[in-house]
Amino acid sequence: MTISNTRVAVLVGSLRADSLNRRLAEQLRDNAPEGVTLDIVDGLDQVPFYNEDIDGETAPATAVALRERVGAADRVLAVTPEYNGTMPAVLNNAIDWLSRPYGAGAIVGKPFGVVGATPTPYGGKWAHGDAARSAGIAGALVVEDVTVSQSAVDVDPTADAEVQAKLLGALARLAEFAPETSAA
Ligand SMILES: Cc1cc2nc3c(=O)[nH]c(=O)nc-3n(C[C@H](O)[C@H](O)[C@H](O)COP(=O)(O)O)c2cc1C
Repeated sequence: MTISNTRVAVLVGSLRADSLNRRLAEQLRDNAPEGVTLDIVDGLDQVPFYNEDIDGETAPATAVALRERVGAADRVLAVTPEYNGTMPAVLNNAIDWLSRPYGAGAIVGKPFGVVGATPTPYGGKWAHGDAARSAGIAGALVVEDVTVSQSAVDVDPTADAEVQAKLLGALARLAEFAPETSAA
């Protein structure tokens, strides 16, 4: 199937310079199927913690920019490790900003997927489950078969061909997802 001009906003859950998950996001961007463009949204650490008192007309420029980047995308992909059994706060905060205004946030109606790797046997599955549930409650359309929770214990996810194929397959399914035909 040819995918035509699908733009995917990517939210990386790690701020670390040498982040494994950031490298995976960059590899997905660089190897994306034809017609699929990945926009890795930088600066999530510059977006203040969500606070209804500063939202609305006075929303911080960084939050407005985040909403614009995601609003301009056709899909949203989180690429994230797990922190203490859930998603890192920086990703949770981004989802909170993207969930408002209530019912009209930038993530509302966007097909959403989540992938990532951790150096533990479970590959971050609780973080990925929580991110999907949170994004769904925020109004995103969670594409179930896009989730990849990859353990990096016995394999280097950035170098292993099977893992790379799995991640690219997930990206392709997210890009191909057709909300109007999947409800049946
Ligand atoms: C505060 C903190 C909590 C963590 N908690 C978990 C965890 O619950 N589950 C897990 O698989 N890894 C956990 N880790 C390990 C991370 O998965 C690991 O550091 C990973 O490489 C981070 O991803 P990154 O390379 O993209 O920065 C934790 C790391 C930190 C710093």
